[in-house]
Amino acid sequence: MVEIMKEICIGCGACVRECPVRNLTMENEKASVKRSCMECGHCFAICPQKAINISGYPSDGIIEFVNQTSLVNGEEFLRLIKSRRSIRDYQEKSIAKETWEKILEAGRFTATSGNGQDLKYVVVQDELETVKKYVWDGFAALIEQLKKSRGDTSPLVRQLRSMNAVHLASQDDRLFFNAPALLVITSASPLDGGLAASNIELMAHAEGLGVLFSGFIQRALALNEDACDYLKVEKTQICACMLLGYPNVEYRRSVPRKAAQITWK
Ligand SMILES: Cc1cc2nc3c(=O)[nH]c(=O)nc-3n(C[C@H](O)[C@H](O)[C@H](O)COP(=O)(O)O)c2cc1C
Repeated sequence: MVEIMKEICIGCGACVRECPVRNLTMENEKASVKRSCMECGHCFAICPQKAINISGYPSDGIIEFVNQTSLVNGEEFLRLIKSRRSIRDYQEKSIAKETWEKILEAGRFTATSGNGQDLKYVVVQDELETVKKYVWDGFAALIEQLKKSRGDTSPLVRQLRSMNAVHLASQDDRLFFNAPALLVITSASPLDGGLAASNIELMAHAEGLGVLFSGFIQRALALNEDACDYLKVEKTQICACMLLGYPNVEYRRSVPRKAAQITWK
């Protein structure tokens, strides 16, 4: 709930002008709250006096800005994006809890539709071997499902069957590679989950970690009820499955990309 501390409010009206749902008004030269709202926090962020409190949230993670225009250099930010690669070879090194907390903070502060903030994260590191078994079982079910829908000889079925056979015959795991951790993100909104996942990926990259989004793991996990129960995730709400770890590879340059398809009007 948004609360105005009237004794601190100077009545500048910045919050009233900023409120996206016009939920604030001026009363006796002080800002006043009309009703409960989605608590986007814009009033809190814009108040020059810190006269606004939003109850029910942890107080950590708030930062003060001196100069918004110099937050990040655009060229450097694009460099970060272009230097990110999907990592399929990892060092034998686990990710420290403090590092997890840092990168998950990037998800926590990502925009969500209607400020719903309805995202859950499952960090699998200690129990990865157990989860791998569940996912490989789901992978077998995925192959059966694809066989029915696409036919026994479709390229995708052949690829998945080959991955499964190699995994059964050797240590070569083309699903989890040798990543030390898996992050599962769930949300009722696939876009909210995807946006958080993207920010987490970039933050992980900035922290020296590598990431691989795995559509195969996501589909295999959703097909295994036991795995979903074990991880306490709702199978219809899995937005992203991301492998994480310290890369064992170093790239020398960025990659070519198709020209962007842009319509200018
Ligand atoms: C949603 C999503 C799912 C993906 N699933 C897989 C996967 O199951 N296995 C895999 O090896 N790579 C997977 N990838 C990685 C893509 O193949 C990769 O992004 C693409 O080849 C471009 O390489 P880059 O990410 O290094 O630029 C996935 C990527 C995304 C965004």
